[in-house]
Amino acid sequence: MDDAIQRMRDLALDLRPAILDDLGLEAALRWYVAREAGRAGLAFRLDVGSIGTRLAPALETACFRLVQEALTNVVRHGQAEAVEVKLDASEGEVRVSISDDGKGFDVRAARRRATAGGSQGLLIMEERVSLAGGKLEIRSGREADHRRRAHSDPGSAAMTKLRILLADDHKLVRAGLRVLLERIADLEVVGESADGQDALRQIAELRPDVALVDVSMPGLNGIETAARVAREHPATRVLIVSMHLDEEYVHRALSAGAAGYLLKTSELQELEIAVRAVGRARPG
Ligand SMILES: Nc1ncnc2c1ncn2[C@@H]1O[C@H](COP(=O)(O)OP(=O)(O)OP(=O)(O)O)[C@@H](O)[C@H]1O
Ligand SMILES: [Mg+2]
Repeated sequence: MDDAIQRMRDLALDLRPAILDDLGLEAALRWYVAREAGRAGLAFRLDVGSIGTRLAPALETACFRLVQEALTNVVRHGQAEAVEVKLDASEGEVRVSISDDGKGFDVRAARRRATAGGSQGLLIMEERVSLAGGKLEIRSGREADHRRRAHSDPGSAAMTKLRILLADDHKLVRAGLRVLLERIADLEVVGESADGQDALRQIAELRPDVALVDVSMPGLNGIETAARVAREHPATRVLIVSMHLDEEYVHRALSAGAAGYLLKTSELQELEIAVRAVGRARPG
């Protein structure tokens, strides 16, 4: 009993991630899913751009936590290669869906084990959703399989090279990045720019999958460039590359429309993971 009360309290007082306040649900999900999928080496597809307005804070928190819990399960149990997160709202209803292409599970048996005290995740998701006045549906197997296949196209993604544009005002940085990236078989650097304006021109012409954009460039800086790319060339995803660990920078970059944020002090492996994660995420 005490346990149950404590859990309700935890849910009610749930720490709301600061990023939700600053950016809203869509951007927070972009940030979170890209980071987690990137770390786990999962391909992901996000379809979260359709809400337009801010939801009530409690509802945003519930949706964010739901995705967190479900994505954690995909990473821990799913043995999946890809995950898809969708968020849409219409006619006063918010729908969040998380699907993976992994091994699936016996939902009824897992729920029985959870109710008997075996685990918490599924129950917490159920509680959150019902506190928000909604309904949780978990499906596995054929039906879910079918739905997933209709949405993803892993074949074509695997065959084509990811095309990358580099924008940085330091020639040696560009040269270094090019060498590092071109060591990876299915990546290709298609262009280089020394400033934001030129990056925009080249993106319009070359249509790269990913633009690696330095924050501090003369003229149009990286964050302004990311905003213009997001508006004018949404098929190109911007990965900001920066010296600044400051959270403020990360927030500004992501709210401007960047798909990811990478520190210049990152390990080589993180560069590869970030480029792939960003390149695979298609705008919704
Ligand atoms: N996406 C998934 N793919 C495969 N199995 C899953 C998936 N999601 C859940 N499961 C199965 O359902 C079980 C219950 O999930 P639940 O989140 O309640 O527990 P848990 O992740 O094992 O522990 P925790 O309480 O830390 O969340 C998992 O142990 C796993 O066997
Ligand atoms: Mg879990």
